[in-house]
Amino acid sequence: MGKDVIIACDFPNAETTLAFLDRFTGRKPFVKIGMELFYGAGPDIVRTIKARGHQVFLDLKLHDIPNTVKKAMTVLRDLGADIVNLHAAGTAQMMRAALEGLTRPDGTRPLLIAVTQLTSTDQAALENELLIREPIDQVVMHYAMNAKKAGLDGVVCSPLEAAKVHEACGAGFLTVTPGVRFADGDRGDQKRVMTPAEAKRVGSDYIVVGRPITAAADPVAAYERCLSEFVG
Ligand code: C5P
Repeated sequence: MGKDVIIACDFPNAETTLAFLDRFTGRKPFVKIGMELFYGAGPDIVRTIKARGHQVFLDLKLHDIPNTVKKAMTVLRDLGADIVNLHAAGTAQMMRAALEGLTRPDGTRPLLIAVTQLTSTDQAALENELLIREPIDQVVMHYAMNAKKAGLDGVVCSPLEAAKVHEACGAGFLTVTPGVRFADGDRGDQKRVMTPAEAKRVGSDYIVVGRPITAAADPVAAYERCLSEFVG
């Protein structure tokens, strides 16, 4: 696995998603399947997209007791996902159980990455609702370190945090970064954004790009532009 652009296919059903992917003739972009598509289309959407030759990041953010997460991870593994994720807040015990569930009898497994703090959580919510008093960037780094110690492969984080995560957890610890916008593009609801070129400069390993590609007049051209800025 190297640097790549992952398209967030935030569509409500299989038909729309497959029609979208059909536009990429001769290309097999890395696809992110999130909750909307997975719950709307069912688990078969993973098998279908894999069978078409794409790599799949299954962004379901698991968070439950260790035994439940372990068993669910085995199911996701057997669907053929290449990257899966969970909430680091579920504790190191849950993360280790997830790794066990993901590991095939031959010792191979999909990559497992952790969500640290959701980018929608701010300092006020952290303090007033979760009763966590530390600065949010320290909490993010602490959770990233927990994920690293538990044996995970990386984290989902803002590109603005990618360099710090690599500094603390090592260059080989993956940073998968949403919040990417073209310099001349619409930010939508994303507040802390970087361009694909900037994300490359700060060392993001994968960028996750949704609406700048899915809502573009020419999604294939937008994807190619992301690739050329990010991968070069
Ligand atoms: O359309 P856009 O490029 O904003 O899509 C970004 C994708 O990354 C969405 O699927 C969103 O759910 C996901 N994501 C995010 N921020 C996070 C975690 C995931 O934007 N912190």
